[in-house]
Amino acid sequence: MQITQAQFRCSSAKVSQVPDDTLPDFAFIGRSNVGKSSLINMLTAHGGLAKVSGTPGKTQLINHFRINDRWYLVDLPGYGYARTSKAVRGGFEKLITDYVLRCERLHFLFVLVDARLEPQAIDLRFIRMLGENGVPFGIVFTKTDKLSKAQTERSLARYRATLSEEWEELPPMFVTSSARSTGRDAILDFIGRCLTEC
Ligand code: GTP
Ligand code: MG
Repeated sequence: MQITQAQFRCSSAKVSQVPDDTLPDFAFIGRSNVGKSSLINMLTAHGGLAKVSGTPGKTQLINHFRINDRWYLVDLPGYGYARTSKAVRGGFEKLITDYVLRCERLHFLFVLVDARLEPQAIDLRFIRMLGENGVPFGIVFTKTDKLSKAQTERSLARYRATLSEEWEELPPMFVTSSARSTGRDAILDFIGRCLTEC
């Protein structure tokens, strides 16, 4: 799929504020600083569509970007940012779970994990929650430009092994680097296939 149009639509502080049309949402989530906004800018080839920062916790709202007048790309707040106050963090977490579990717009959720790290408890907990609630999701490995091909392969194998302990079927996995535009076609073609099945 080619992206010919990418337009910011709205930021929502509550699930009741998300767009109320019938276009499907493809959302991106992960720990703060994992590279969500960078990935979104890489996918849409619009540097600056989503805000990128060295400061974790920058995205605190549900951001909808309308793509090709056909679907929404959604940037969600990062979970598990320890330096945010407990009250604020609780607010994000409620926003995230409300959206992920109760928003019928959500068609597919891409869960971003840093390819350099071994499977993190917080990500595994989130993934388990998705599986238990039947939310369709895939895993996106970010920042692979920091690893060799062999290291990336090992990282994926480690994730597969960890998930296989709990799940019979593994989710789709995508290897990406926003710095090198790796994985762009794989993700956009996947979304394109989902759209033709909608
Ligand atoms: P929050 O919105 O704060 O939750 O962060 P985020 O997940 O949107 O991360 P963001 O895209 O803002 O990137 C965080 C940091 O990681 C920035 O310093 C980016 O430059 C860096 N980064 C993101 N993607 C890549 C990548 O593919 N490769 C490398 N080397 N660095 C990356
Ligand atoms: Mg962000």
